[in-house]
Amino acid sequence: MSVPCGIPEPRSEVNEPSASPEPPGGAETVDGSFARHPHESYRRWRETREVRQVRFSGPVPLAGWVVTGHAACRAALVDPRLSKDGATEAFARHEGLPTGGPGGALTTHLLNSDPPRHTRLRRLVQQAFTQRRVAMLRPRIEARATALLDALDGSDEVDLIGRFALPLPLAVIFDLLGADPGDPGVLQVRGHTVTGDEGDGEVSVPTAEAMLDRLRALIEQKRAHPGDDLLSALVAARDGGDRLTEEEVTSMAFLLVIAGHQTTANLIANGLHALLAHPDQLAAVRADPSLLPGLTEEVLRHESPFGIASLRYATQPVEIEGTTIPAGEFVQIALLAANRDPEVFPDPDRFDVTRDAAGHLAFGHGIHRCLGAPLARLQAEIAFGQVLRRYPALRLADPDRAPAWQDNPRHRGLLSLPVRLR
Ligand code: HEM
Repeated sequence: MSVPCGIPEPRSEVNEPSASPEPPGGAETVDGSFARHPHESYRRWRETREVRQVRFSGPVPLAGWVVTGHAACRAALVDPRLSKDGATEAFARHEGLPTGGPGGALTTHLLNSDPPRHTRLRRLVQQAFTQRRVAMLRPRIEARATALLDALDGSDEVDLIGRFALPLPLAVIFDLLGADPGDPGVLQVRGHTVTGDEGDGEVSVPTAEAMLDRLRALIEQKRAHPGDDLLSALVAARDGGDRLTEEEVTSMAFLLVIAGHQTTANLIANGLHALLAHPDQLAAVRADPSLLPGLTEEVLRHESPFGIASLRYATQPVEIEGTTIPAGEFVQIALLAANRDPEVFPDPDRFDVTRDAAGHLAFGHGIHRCLGAPLARLQAEIAFGQVLRRYPALRLADPDRAPAWQDNPRHRGLLSLPVRLR
């Protein structure tokens, strides 16, 4: 299952060749090295200004018509003919994958819905996910970040993902939902305490089921003893006589947990890695901390954590960049490619914390635009600021080693970030 796109894809089965039909005629198959240098393929595809069928090989089944230009991606994100309702199940059927999965709790959330269901869900959720609630989290996020870095005292070489970039957003989501942080592993995408899922950014069905069990118990608790937290607010959210059903609250909580920590962990780690790989940029931010917000935007643009937007399919023939995508076929909107379109961002491969990165599509665009963008930005700025202040000698543990990226075109994130702190 790919989340926040919500595609149930049990990994063990997708590796069997018989599980997937042959690529449709004309599809380009991209091999497992794609994750190491996606920008080269994206540049090639973008330059031809054509939308092409691609099947990405690797542990995660991902295929469809790939859109790469900034203008085309922006338009596709708001095109009502590209639907999300039932996209997950339709893709699984198309690929010969099991369609049962953990059931409705995962297929009815915001990112799998078109209007009018999406409009209704988003209105109810927006009530609970207010700017005030996000702003109130600042001191908690600062305290969480400090505690995680305090725990590194005495260490010299550490993996900044395992020890900082991943646990920070996870703890923040726990705070947001009002969950007991006693056993965070059960709600995390990597290193899940029940199944040990790790690495490729996907969530197996057993992990999802364990997470849902935990969330259902938590929702029950909030119903009985509401607090000043997002989950209690979701349970209580009303719009006239309308309210979220039990299944919708569970589904929303699941989406928030997954969408909230996986992408943010990648943003923090991608940013720290980019700084360490570009000493001039690191020096610039150290010299002028007012560049921290610009740094966050540039990381979002340069190595967009959500590399391909969630799955959509054409409900009727749709022409994009001169190519007609037949009805019923799947569309992959490559945000990572759009954000390096030279027509919008001059010299796009250059990592430059002083550039104007406004207009990037890292948080999507239109009705599905990321609900958690302010929270993600806040966390990243706090994380970058604290790490840079605390470790003046921070450097990559092995500068000659090529970064190891998750083998999943949907998520742009590193598997680990070994650094020397002192
Ligand atoms: C760097 C961090 C993040 C990135 C790059 C990111 C990216 C995105 C993108 C691209 C979308 C739209 C997908 C599409 O149209 O297919 C999205 C939607 C969403 N994101 Fe985020 N996200 C991040 C953090 C968060 C956080 C922290 C939360 C919540 C705690 C969150 C919750 C959501 C939700 C609920 C949606 C669905 C909105 C809808 O369908 O109306 N995200 N995110």
